[in-house]
Amino acid sequence: MAVTIKTPEQQAKMRVAGRLAADVLDMIGDYVIPGVTTGELDRLCHEYITGIQGAIPAPLNYRGFPKSICTSVNHVVCHGIPGDKKLKNGDAINIDVTVIKDGFHGDTSRMFFVGKPSIQAQRLSEIAFESMWLGIQELAPGKRLGDVGAAVQENVEKHNFSVVREYCGHGIGEIFHEDPQVLHYGKRDTGLELREGMTLTVEPMINAGKANVKLLPDGWTVVTKDHSLSAQWEHTCLITSSGVEVLTLGADSRR
Ligand code: MF3
Ligand code: CO
Ligand code: CO
Repeated sequence: MAVTIKTPEQQAKMRVAGRLAADVLDMIGDYVIPGVTTGELDRLCHEYITGIQGAIPAPLNYRGFPKSICTSVNHVVCHGIPGDKKLKNGDAINIDVTVIKDGFHGDTSRMFFVGKPSIQAQRLSEIAFESMWLGIQELAPGKRLGDVGAAVQENVEKHNFSVVREYCGHGIGEIFHEDPQVLHYGKRDTGLELREGMTLTVEPMINAGKANVKLLPDGWTVVTKDHSLSAQWEHTCLITSSGVEVLTLGADSRR
């Protein structure tokens, strides 16, 4: 699969999809409280995306995924399936939303805490957030994907956390997961050279313990092998003539 360059018209559609995905996360935050189930969070997001936004939740039926969002709690790294599990005080949850609007995808995730998090959970989430932004700040024409991976990896490892290797960011557009793969580790001055009009995600998954992960028998849920905590943040980004435009900022960070 080739890396696609989006035309200005396609970029406009990516902007809309990205904004809608961010709006879903803005909406759901208030519902992340003790006693709510991940299935209820899924239902609220599904209703909002389909009913209010007139959009499509991309995960639903994607390669057989059964729900409209991913909910990954504590030691779940990614692709947690919403269900009957009730959230409790101290849980850390990543909610990952991808919407399709007018044929284009917007993909973003954030960490939320239920009540008061542990110091470690808070620190891990902060470093995941900071590392995502350090990766995003590398995005510009002429820069290379290895610069992104190295920026993320250096920051994560400086804090003695680890970068998950099996899952990565990706090109995104009319297809959910397009080329290229955006690794969250690597060497500067290596890999694909970025060009204006590319759209891709930066979405590092980082663990408090070892980097190793394991897939549960449900075929989707990815957990840390050592059961240590994991955290992730994700934005969809557009390479512009001068650098980067983040398409999935929340309403409080847009202007
Ligand atoms: N949103 C995830 C990503 O960031 C992919 C989820 S695929 C699903 O790429 F099928 F699990 F929903
Ligand atoms: Co993604
Ligand atoms: Co995502």
